[in-house]
Amino acid sequence: MTYTPAADRYQRMIYNRCGKSGLKLPAISLGLWHNFGHDTPHGVKQAICRTAFDLGITHFDLANNYGPPPGSAEEAFGELLRTDFRGLRDELIISSKAGYEMWDGPYGEWGSRKYVIASCDQSLKRMGLDYVDIFYSHRFDPDTPLEETMGALDHIVRSGRAQYIGISSYNSQRTREAAAILKDLGTPLLIHQPSYNILNRWVETDGLKDTLQELGVGSIAFVPLAQGILTNKYLNGIPAGSRAAQDKSLHPSVVEKALSSVRKLNDMAAARGQTLAQMALAWVLRNGGITSALIGASKPEQVVDCVGALTNLDFTAEELARIDAISEEKDINLWARSSED
Ligand SMILES: NC(=O)c1ccc[n+]([C@@H]2O[C@H](COP(=O)([O-])OP(=O)(O)OC[C@H]3O[C@@H](n4cnc5c(N)ncnc54)[C@H](OP(=O)(O)O)[C@@H]3O)[C@@H](O)[C@H]2O)c1
Repeated sequence: MTYTPAADRYQRMIYNRCGKSGLKLPAISLGLWHNFGHDTPHGVKQAICRTAFDLGITHFDLANNYGPPPGSAEEAFGELLRTDFRGLRDELIISSKAGYEMWDGPYGEWGSRKYVIASCDQSLKRMGLDYVDIFYSHRFDPDTPLEETMGALDHIVRSGRAQYIGISSYNSQRTREAAAILKDLGTPLLIHQPSYNILNRWVETDGLKDTLQELGVGSIAFVPLAQGILTNKYLNGIPAGSRAAQDKSLHPSVVEKALSSVRKLNDMAAARGQTLAQMALAWVLRNGGITSALIGASKPEQVVDCVGALTNLDFTAEELARIDAISEEKDINLWARSSED
């Protein structure tokens, strides 16, 4: 059936300025890491994206390797762009990334100019796009000069393949260096994409969050729900079909380790009149410190629930202190390696 977007979609979302740029991003964005590969029916992908856009989610985040198999999420999204979102390109912010392993041999991952530009071209082809809005270096490459990786990103903008540039999981020091190189090249760093949630606070301890504020760079927090741990889904065991049950990127032991904290957080969320997912997203977005929370979803209902977070983004000092106390020493950061170099 033909898709007609909800007429009131822009009244349903909050849009935050991305750092000191001219670009605004929705407070909640949708990522296509999971549930957009060959293992998910087209109708589910379509329903998730339609629901998101109807709620004012204008930003869809991809990467070369999202699937399975790698590349298939970009192909699936390209199909939706040609059908459901035809004619809506200028209302969408689409991002992709290069950094993790994508093809065999020495030129299929990390941060060389050879890989980054070729990967961007492949992503554009899979999605059927002339350009992406944001192109990211997906992870810092300790063996390639930062000038080379940033030079490749600058070239990607200058050649019209992307409008803006981002980096993901770079630590505070590397972010300062990357931003300085990009400034000299004349292509400002728009945004940083770090992992961040109640149970994973490396952006605070590393100083990255403060660095981004100081540099005027925007921020989009990935895994704001800790891959689903910070929701009510695991309170009574591991449901069939859940991410932990599939054991792709979330091992059941990680869920179990967090469960005692999650139960307490769930009680707190209920006292605030929110679901745990909503409280977890509100916490990431509190005080305007983060431009956008980048969620994933396996069902359209999850997107609806998540956007419901925006009706209560305020916390008392007592609530914040309690969340800190509950979450102490439950650090879950599967991306620590990328920010350590
Ligand atoms: N830059 C990077 O290195 C990097 C790394 C990872 C992710 N990312 C980006 O971040 C995006 C989000 O990652 P993520 O999917 O792990 O984020 P997430 O939002 O922390 O977790 C999403 C999962 O939580 C569950 N969920 C979502 N909303 C729910 C709700 N309202 N109630 C109950 N359960 C709910 C679903 O789990 P079930 O599937 O079990 O239902 C969903 O798949 C990715 O798609 C990608 O764009 C970037």
